[in-house]
Parts: sequence; structure tokens; C-alpha cells
Amino acid sequence: MNHPAIREGAVAVVTGAALGIGYAIARRVAREGMNVVLFDKDAEALDLAVRALRRDMPDARLLAIKGDVTCEDDLHRLHEQSCEFGEVSLLVNNAAILKGAGPWEDMAGWRALMEVNFWSLLRLQQMFVETWLAHEGRAAIVNVGSKEGITTRPGNAAYSVSKAAIKVLTEQLAHELRERVGARISAHLLIPGYTFTPMNFPDMTADTPKPDSPWTADQVAERLIEKMGEGDFYLFCEDNEASWELDQRRMQWAADDLIQKRPALSRWHKDYADAFAASIADL
Ligand SMILES: NC(=O)c1ccc[n+]([C@@H]2O[C@H](COP(=O)([O-])OP(=O)(O)OC[C@H]3O[C@@H](n4cnc5c(N)ncnc54)[C@H](O)[C@@H]3O)[C@@H](O)[C@H]2O)c1
Repeated sequence: MNHPAIREGAVAVVTGAALGIGYAIARRVAREGMNVVLFDKDAEALDLAVRALRRDMPDARLLAIKGDVTCEDDLHRLHEQSCEFGEVSLLVNNAAILKGAGPWEDMAGWRALMEVNFWSLLRLQQMFVETWLAHEGRAAIVNVGSKEGITTRPGNAAYSVSKAAIKVLTEQLAHELRERVGARISAHLLIPGYTFTPMNFPDMTADTPKPDSPWTADQVAERLIEKMGEGDFYLFCEDNEASWELDQRRMQWAADDLIQKRPALSRWHKDYADAFAASIADL
């Protein structure tokens, strides 16, 4: 059974919907009969996305809005036009960028990344939650996190920080909503694994063969529908490299760094390499 927010005739708003996971989610909820607002800054990709959806689903009601999530005016326009389009029951805060910025470098890069990945997500969350609180009806927000915001692999500090912030924000939001309105408005954290999208494969085309390791974006979208339907908060995705059992051990190891007073990110510390390897040896 679907989550009550995923219902025929209601509106789903998806940011970063022209490509990758956002596009797959837009297509998946359109298949459920939802009217879909696709928001993206890439006008050309957005146009192609909408054409492809119309080809597959000629009856789908779609609204494409070109805009940048970092622009307050664009977010207001998105909110306003989405509410005019129908009763919005689902917001998927998906748009994000992956950009290298190390802990002591590139302040401008940090600000730019946090603006796209975190501040705009928070802003849109505020706009729609405020609207939902003022009305009746079931609704849900899905914020898109990452395993990089949980086990925080080294190498992409700014990205990991943004995704860790989204995790905490969404957990707080879920709790506050539960206290205030029960199950009427729910919040969810989508945690994709390694996925075959332009974020990881910038030059990919429709003909690019998928390597074995990543999941497809469609698998991620399917997991979202399935786990939301089961009422989960964490919409966790494994991939073809990392099983759920391996991810469980990695998350446990990360949490145990603090409890066992190990060095930060000990999973990648040479002195702990053998201990970590031993901890997953039976998998
Ligand atoms: N691909 C993965 O392996 C992976 C893993 C974990 C989490 N994620 C998360 O999943 C989400 C989707 O990732 P993806 O791989 O599909 O990304 P992608 O780069 O393939 O697609 C992102 C889409 O967002 C749009 N976008 C980017 N900046 C924007 C802005 N400022 N305003 C409006 N639109 C903007 C892009 O134009 C693009 O259409 C992201 O939040 C990402 O962090 C992805």
C-alpha cells in the first residue's frame, strides 16, 4: 500500500527533477497518477525530461518550472505555482551538487555547496510545511541525504557536512511534526547508495552502459515508494557493492568511534584497518 501522500490527483513537487534520481522519482510518482511539478535549473534537460514523460504517459499532468534552488524568488515561484497546480501532498527536496571543498580550503566553494544542498532545502521545507500546517490533508516531505552524511567517508568534506546536516534536520522535523500533527504530515530521509546518475557519471547518455556497482535511479525511486508505504522514516538504499548487512556494520563502526573513543573516521585510519576488516570478515 502506498503512503497516503502518494495518491492519484494530488501534486508532487520534485527539485532537481530533470536528471538522475529526481527524474526517476518524478516519473515513478507520475505513474501513481500524481500531478508532478518538475523543478530544475537546467532548462534543456528539463525540457527533454518532460517530453520523455509525456511520451511514456500522455495523460500525465506535468508542470515544468525552470529555476535555481538558491534563488529565493524562484523558490517562492515554485511554491506558489505548485499550490495553484493542485493540492500538494509530496515535496521531494532532491537537488544537490557534489563539489570538492576540503576542511581548511575554498570558503566560496563551501558556501556555494551549502546554499544548494542545505539552505535551499530548508527554505523549501519551511514554505511547504507552513502551507500543510494551515490546511487539512495528508502530506509528506522527503529530504535526500546520503550515506556520506552518516558514515562520512573522507574526501568530500563539504558534501558530507551538507548531508549530515540534512539528516539531523529531517530527524528533527519528523519528531516535531509527529508531536504536532501525528501522522498527518510525515518527514522522511532518502539515503541513496551509489547510483548511476550524472552526478557520478557526468558524461553519461542514454546509451552509456551501466557499470555493475551502482543501482539505477529507478531502483532508488522504487525503494522510496516501497519504504514510504511501509511507514519508514529512513528510506535506505543499498547498492550492488554494499549490501544492507555491510552498511549496517559500517554505520555501527562509525557510531562506535565515539563510544569506544577511537580516532575520528577510524575506518580509514591505518592503525584500525585490520580491526575494521575483521569486523566484516564474516559477510
Ligand atoms: N548519485 C548518487 O550516487 C547519490 C548517492 C547519494 C545521494 N545522492 C543524492 O541524490 C540526489 C540526486 O542526485 P543525482 O545523482 O540524481 O544528481 P544529478 O547531479 O545526477 O542530478 C541533479 C539534478 O539537480 C539539478 N540541480 C543541481 N543544482 C540545482 C540548483 N541549484 N537548482 C535547481 N536544480 C539543480 C541538476 O540540474 C540535475 O538535474 C542528490 O541530493 C544527491 O546528493 C546521490
